[in-house]
Amino acid sequence: MKKADLSIEFCGVNCENPFFLSSSPVSNNYEMCAKAFDNGWGGVVFKTIGFFIANEVSPRFCNLNKEGISFIGFKNMEQIAEHGLEYNLEQIKKIKENYPDKVLVASIMGQNEEEWTKLAKVVEQAGADIIECNFSCPQMTSHSMGVDVGQSKNLVKMYSKATKKGSKLPVLAKMTPNIGNMKTPAIASIEGGANGIAAINTIKSIINIDLNKLSALPIINGKSSISGYSGKAIKPIALRFICELAKCNELKNVPISGIGGIETWEDALEFIMLGASNVQVTTAVMQYGYRIVEDMISGLSFYMEEKGFKTVKEMVGLAVKNIVPPENLERDYIIYPEFNFHRCVGCGRCYISCYDGGHQAIKWNKEDRTPQLEIENCVGCHLCSNVCPANCIEFGEVKFKDNCRKRDIVI
Ligand SMILES: Cc1cc2nc3c(=O)[nH]c(=O)nc-3n(C[C@H](O)[C@H](O)[C@H](O)COP(=O)(O)O)c2cc1C
Ligand code: SF4
Ligand code: SF4
Repeated sequence: MKKADLSIEFCGVNCENPFFLSSSPVSNNYEMCAKAFDNGWGGVVFKTIGFFIANEVSPRFCNLNKEGISFIGFKNMEQIAEHGLEYNLEQIKKIKENYPDKVLVASIMGQNEEEWTKLAKVVEQAGADIIECNFSCPQMTSHSMGVDVGQSKNLVKMYSKATKKGSKLPVLAKMTPNIGNMKTPAIASIEGGANGIAAINTIKSIINIDLNKLSALPIINGKSSISGYSGKAIKPIALRFICELAKCNELKNVPISGIGGIETWEDALEFIMLGASNVQVTTAVMQYGYRIVEDMISGLSFYMEEKGFKTVKEMVGLAVKNIVPPENLERDYIIYPEFNFHRCVGCGRCYISCYDGGHQAIKWNKEDRTPQLEIENCVGCHLCSNVCPANCIEFGEVKFKDNCRKRDIVI
C-alpha cells in the first residue's frame, strides 16, 4: 500500500511525520534518539537539560494496576537530566549531525533569566531545530523551576522572553496541567515571544498507598512524594486542555504539540482532531518500546487513505467545533436502549446498575434471565449500555420530549 503523506510543518520546521518522543528518559542520549529515528519517529524532544543536575531517588517509578490491567497510569519522581550540560550538548550535536532530516527539540529549564538565555544560545549552537521550555515538571527539588514557574503567568512570560533573547529558534512553552486555566500561562508565553504550546506535562498525584508500610509507592526509605502521573489515564484530561487552547481566540493559529497518554494512532489522531498539529509520547514508549511508532504510521496512513485526507494539516482541529458548552447541547429528545437478545449472556448487570445507579427502568425476568425495559421509567441515560459486558445494548427508538419539534439528529 502506498503510504499517505504524513509530513507536517510545525513552527516553521518540516517534519516527516507528526510523531515525536516527548522529553523524558526515552530521549536521554544519542543511542536512544538514533534508535527512535531508525524506527520511524519524526522528531524527539531531548530530555530536559539545564545547569541544575538532578540527584534522583531510587526507585522512582510506580505503575497503577487495576483489574489485571497494568500501566493504567504511571507515576514518576524524576526531575531533569542527570548528565551534565556539556555531555547533553554533545549528544544533541551528534544527533543532528547523523540525522539532519529528523527534528530535534531541545527541552531546557533555567533557574533565572540569565540561565534561560544561556541555555537557548547553547542548544541553538549544538544544532537543535526547536526549543521547548519546560515550565511544568511537578517534582523539582528547587521551587525556582518547573511547575511553580508554569503556574505563574509573569514568570512564564519573563522566561519565554529570556529564551527568545538567546536564540532565533522557534520556542515551545510546555504547560503544566496542575492549574485550573491553562489559557492564562499559554497566552503569557506567547506574549513573551514563544511560538507554540506543548501540553501536557504530568499531573500531580499520589498512587498505591501501601497499607502495611503506610506510605504511597514508590517508597523511598519509608516516605513518598506527590509527583507526576502520565499514561493512558491522563489522556482525557490532556484532550480537555488541548481543546481549550485550540478554542482560545488569543491563541488563534498558535501551533500546539499534544501530549498525554498517547499509545496508538487513534489516540494521536484524537489530539490532532482537537487542534494539535504534532504529538509527543513517553509512557507508552517506556512500556512497549520505540516500535509502537510503526503502527502509528501505518494506522494513520490507512485512515487518511480511507477518508480521503491528503495531508495531516487538513485534519487539525476538525472536531473542535463539536465540543460546545453544556448550555449549547440539545436537550429535546431521549434515545431509548434496545436490547439485542441474541448476544445477551443473562448476567443481569444492566438490571443492577439501572436499579442501583439509574432509574429502575429494567425489570429482571428470573426464569429466562433477560432484562425487560420499562419504558415509562427510562430516561435514556445509557448507564445500562455502558456496563453491559456483551455489548448488546444499542441505541433504539428516539423520542422527542413534549412540545419539541421532531427532526433528524446525529446519534
Ligand atoms: C519518567 C518520566 C520523566 C519525564 N521527564 C520529563 C522531562 O525531563 N521534561 C519534560 O518536559 N517532561 C518530562 N516528562 C513528561 C513527559 O514528557 C510527558 O509530558 C508526560 O509523561 C505525558 O505524556 P505520556 O502520557 O505520553 O507519558 C517525563 C515523564 C516521565 C514519565
Ligand atoms: S437508559 Fe438508563 S434509565 Fe434507561 S434502562 Fe438504561 S440505565 Fe435504565
Ligand atoms: S448487561 Fe447485557 S448481557 Fe448482561 S443481562 Fe444486560 S443486556 Fe444481557
